[in-house]
Amino acid sequence: MNSEAGIKHLLAALKGARQSPVPFWYMRQAGRYLPEYRKLRAEAGDFLDLCYSPDLAIEVSLQPLRRYAMDGVILFSDILVVPHALGMGLRYIEGEGPQLDALDRRDVLPRYRREAFLAHLSPVFETLKGITAEAPAGATVIGFAGAPWTVATYMIEGGSSRDFAKCKSWAFQDPENFQLLIDLLIDSTSDYLSAQIDAGAEVVQIFDSWAAALPEMALQRWSLAPILAIAKRIGRKHPGVPVIAFPRGAGVSYKLYAEEPDISAVSLDSTVPLSWAAEHLQPQAVVQGNLDPQLLVCGGAPMLEEAERILAALSGGPLVFNLGHGIVPQTPPEHVAALSEFIRGWRA
Ligand code: CP3
Repeated sequence: MNSEAGIKHLLAALKGARQSPVPFWYMRQAGRYLPEYRKLRAEAGDFLDLCYSPDLAIEVSLQPLRRYAMDGVILFSDILVVPHALGMGLRYIEGEGPQLDALDRRDVLPRYRREAFLAHLSPVFETLKGITAEAPAGATVIGFAGAPWTVATYMIEGGSSRDFAKCKSWAFQDPENFQLLIDLLIDSTSDYLSAQIDAGAEVVQIFDSWAAALPEMALQRWSLAPILAIAKRIGRKHPGVPVIAFPRGAGVSYKLYAEEPDISAVSLDSTVPLSWAAEHLQPQAVVQGNLDPQLLVCGGAPMLEEAERILAALSGGPLVFNLGHGIVPQTPPEHVAALSEFIRGWRA
């Protein structure tokens, strides 16, 4: 962990200053690949109970930092607490992922009641306060939420989906009605992230994990525009707090996110070509990424050679080293240690 001249290393990079060594953290850095997570998770029983128990969620958030001293500590929670706090039934079934009581386009949308919504999420804010108090001094506290499009896919499909058929037919056939759902998610997610910042988050990341499902015009309307609306509200209320957008799989459309002044950084999935990112994205935004999580499962020379390639290609501008998607449960913890040592020791 590094914090020169008082400003945290990761925060400085996200505000646009090139840092050496390159700051790093990993998406899903807390989770099932860590034995100490599995132990706490078994004690908590249910995944949602873990998310809503500040003492346990603080501990789980800090676990990976004790091993690897990343430059960032991300809140331990899930993107689906937002629909849950809006009143939707939510369960996590072992081995099957999340299940929600699916929303139909003929249903009346839940009316947004800000007080009740934020009250439901108060354990998350308590968790952030605890993380802020207990994290190592140089670690930047990262809050997050799902982007409206990705959260809407879970609300409409009732869980994970391969083709997003229900969600797309709603959006394509009845866009004015679908906009009402997206607007509800813009309002609630903006309030949620703003409250996370009040509770100690120093940066926020917006996960649009399923952006790649959308064709060009739909991507602009349902992924880019809602993320931008949220980023603008955060920018007005909390000037200077960096917003990271992660439109996973957006391809050349990454440029549209990077060129928006309210979006400070873009998190690159593993398919984004490095030289293209250096030329077209980095002049306009900080870039974060993008090691393939399967290389972290693999470890050894293939992992380190790719990490070297990423650092060499992108360290000429502001860069945060990360993965192209979250750490998977099969990852050997010692590979994460080896990668972290490599990043820490690397110089341009
Ligand atoms: O990065 C971190 O360490 C913070 C924690 C975090 C979780 N989920 C914990 C979690 C974050 C940032 C998320 C985001 C999230 N959740 C996304 C966006 C990022 C992405 O991966 O694309 C999405 C799409 C979800 C929805 C979700 N939550 C799914 C599909 C699943 C089941 C799949 C799985 O890995 O089991 C979850 C559950 C979940 N969220 C777990 C964790 C650690 C596993 C729960 C367990 O312990 O059983």
